[in-house]
Amino acid sequence: MKKTIKDFNLQNKTVLIRCDFNVPMQDGVITDNNRIVSSLSTIQYAIQQQAKVVLLSHLGRVTTEEDKLQKTLKPVAEMLADLLDMPIRFVNTTHGEILEQSIQELKPGEVLLMENTRFEDVPGKFESKNNPSLGKYWASLGDIYINDAFGTSHRSHASNVGIASYLPSGIGFLIEQELQVMGGSITNPEHPFVVILGGSKVSDKIGVIQNLVHIADKILVGGGIANTFLKAKGYEIGASLVDNESLDFCKEMLTRYPDKIILPVDVVTATEISDQAPVKKCSVDAVMTSDIILDLGPDTIDLYRTQLKDSATIVWNGTVGMTELNNFIHGTKALCDIISKEIATTIIGGGDTAGAVIGLGYKEKMSHISTGGGASLELLEGKILPGIDIIDDME
Ligand code: 3PG
Repeated sequence: MKKTIKDFNLQNKTVLIRCDFNVPMQDGVITDNNRIVSSLSTIQYAIQQQAKVVLLSHLGRVTTEEDKLQKTLKPVAEMLADLLDMPIRFVNTTHGEILEQSIQELKPGEVLLMENTRFEDVPGKFESKNNPSLGKYWASLGDIYINDAFGTSHRSHASNVGIASYLPSGIGFLIEQELQVMGGSITNPEHPFVVILGGSKVSDKIGVIQNLVHIADKILVGGGIANTFLKAKGYEIGASLVDNESLDFCKEMLTRYPDKIILPVDVVTATEISDQAPVKKCSVDAVMTSDIILDLGPDTIDLYRTQLKDSATIVWNGTVGMTELNNFIHGTKALCDIISKEIATTIIGGGDTAGAVIGLGYKEKMSHISTGGGASLELLEGKILPGIDIIDDME
């Protein structure tokens, strides 16, 4: 068991909280604030406990000086100030006298956000390569380190593993919840446990399939990965997205787990990836060479509804159609609707799946929507996440 923020006396202490504010932005405007909202409970707790709160996060990948102009955390500071309804001190640097002095001037209950930790990646990738001097320097700015950046916990960077190597450390409420709900689904799930796996490439999901095939009762397949499974079974998939390198893996899985891996029985296709192209619904054995499979068909939705009925745990990772286009969002929407009506614990993997479920208005109807894309995948693969592993254990 890892220490949590509650295991520390925070009063008057400078508490470094690593958040994942890597939010989508367009022209400097945050387009989805889910990760910021999910960080609030830990930050608010630290404020209430009269800590001097220093927040760290990365935003995107920073490889050039020009990137820095687009990748500033200033808009995040502004949104945080609104959400917390208090001033946030934003320091537009990641090291040096101004940062150090600003932290020293913090009073209990005040909050400071420093600039994007990945500004330290230019030059030299000091943040992303976990340069020990950088981790040590950041650690020298605080008394306690709390990691609440679940979405980054599969990385071993200076702002998580680095700092935690030099300070007493714990996890925040967000990571605690991700571990309890999503981590719990693979360590001790309630059965029947049904997994929905979509997304584009089987190769991205091999680890998840290999791990969950031993834990789940059924794996319902959709999206681009269903195409590869269908091709492995000998079906024509036309001009659909396919991951040919994973065909042998799919064949092996279908041979070993024929009753566990459930494939679409019908699909929605078009001859172009466009909302203007005519749409065809057909059985999986009627796909033509010019067709592109872009969504699940209605019979598959009925089949998956039956498979999901009365399940106790549902984990969903990967959208099941081309949700960017209105004509091919129906399968994903139908699954949102079906699982939101089940009394099961419903766990939505991060990244595109979370974006689709939230965008379709189902945020409040799911038990848990993960804030981690790559991190949630690695957790479902059963991997150890270095950003969490490094945190102090309970004595
Ligand atoms: C994410 O969005 O998956 C995390 O914030 C990690 O970002 P990264 O893939 O750039 O390390």
